[in-house]
Amino acid sequence: MNGTHRFLSACRREPVDRTPIWLMRQAGRYMPEYRALREKHTILELIKTPELAAEVTMQPLQAFDLDAAIIFADILTLPEAMGLSLEFVRGEGPVFHQPIRHADDIQRLQDIDPESALSFTMDAIRLVNRELDGRLPLIGFSGAPFTLACYTIEGGSSRHFIHAKTFMYRATADWHRLMERLTDAVIAYLLGQARAGAAALQLFDSWAGVLSPADYATYVMPHTQRIFTELAEATDVPLIFFGTETATLLPLLAKTAADVIGVDWRIPLDEAWSIIGEDKAIQGNLDPVILFSTPDQVALAAQRILAAAGGRPGHIFNLGHGILPQTPMEHVTALVESVHAYSPMST
Ligand code: CP3
Repeated sequence: MNGTHRFLSACRREPVDRTPIWLMRQAGRYMPEYRALREKHTILELIKTPELAAEVTMQPLQAFDLDAAIIFADILTLPEAMGLSLEFVRGEGPVFHQPIRHADDIQRLQDIDPESALSFTMDAIRLVNRELDGRLPLIGFSGAPFTLACYTIEGGSSRHFIHAKTFMYRATADWHRLMERLTDAVIAYLLGQARAGAAALQLFDSWAGVLSPADYATYVMPHTQRIFTELAEATDVPLIFFGTETATLLPLLAKTAADVIGVDWRIPLDEAWSIIGEDKAIQGNLDPVILFSTPDQVALAAQRILAAAGGRPGHIFNLGHGILPQTPMEHVTALVESVHAYSPMST
C-alpha cells in the first residue's frame, strides 16, 4: 500500500512513525555489489538492460534499511533519446559528441515517446515494483531542463559553464526554445515513469546554483514552473525539486507546485524551511563528506539535522548531494541507524 509508506506520508506532510531516509545515488560505486556488476558491464549497459537496472536498484535496499528505492537510470539518457549521442568516458565522465551550439542544433532534437524511446527505464520500473511488491515506494526522476542544457551545450561536465551561459545570454530566444523542447521532454518522461509505477518524481536541477537568483528567474524559472504545474495537474504522485547551492534561490523555488524541496548543507535546515514555507516538505541537508568521518560524527550530524526539523511533519532525511564513490559502507549503516534512533515521532 503506497499511501501508507512513511516516505510518501512525509512528502505530503502527514505525520510519520519515524523520519524516512533515502540517499541520492544510493546505488553506485561505493557498493562492492555494484562494482562487481560494473566490471562486466558499462554504465549504459546497466541502465539499458531492465533486469540489470532492477538488480542495481535493489542493491542498496538489501544492504540498508532505507525508506524508498530510486530507479537506476541517469539524467543524460533523456537527451540521448532526443538524438544526442552519449558516451561515458572513463576518468572523464559523460560526453556528448555533438553538443548543441547553434539554433540549427535545436532542430535536430527529436520529441520523445518515453514508452518507446526510454522503454528500458519504463520496463525497469515495472520490474522493480514487481520485486518490491508494495514494500517500498519507488522514486522516478529526470534531469531538469537547465541542468540538461548545461550538459548538452557544454558537451560534458564543466566548471564554469561558459558555453551554456554564453548561449543563454547571447542567444536568449534560442535558449528559451531549447528549454521549451527539454521541458516538453522532461514532462513526458516523468509522466511516463508515473504511469509505469513510480510513486514519486524527483527533478534534478543539480547545477541551478551556478546562476544568480535574477538569472534563474529570467532564464529558467518559467520552465521549472511549467514542469511542476503540468505534472501536478496530470498526476497525484508527490513531486520533488532538487538542486545544490540553491540557498538564494529558495524564495523562487517555493513558488513552484513542487511538494518537496531538496536543500544542500550550505544552509541550516530550519532556516531553509522558513524560507520555503511550511506548506512544503523538505529533503536533504547532510554534507555527503560527513560520511567520511567517524560513526560518532555521523550520528551527531544526523541528530543536528533532526533537531533542526524539530519533529515537524514533512522532513525526509537525505544527503545534500549524491553519495560519493569512496564512502565507507559502515558509515552509511551508522547514518541510517542514527536516523532511526533519534528521529522523533512527528505529531
Ligand atoms: O540515485 C540513484 O541511485 C539513481 C541513479 C542515478 C545515477 N545518476 C546513476 C549513475 C541518478 C539519480 C543520477 C543522476 C545524475 N546523473 C545527475 C544528477 C544528480 C547529481 O548527483 O547531481 C547528474 C549530474 C548525472 C550525470 C552523470 N552521470 C555524471 C556526472 C556521472 C559521473 C561520471 C563519472 O565517471 O564519475 C554519471 C554516471 C553515473 N550515473 C554513475 C551512476 C551510479 C557512476 C558511473 C559508474 O558506475 O561508473
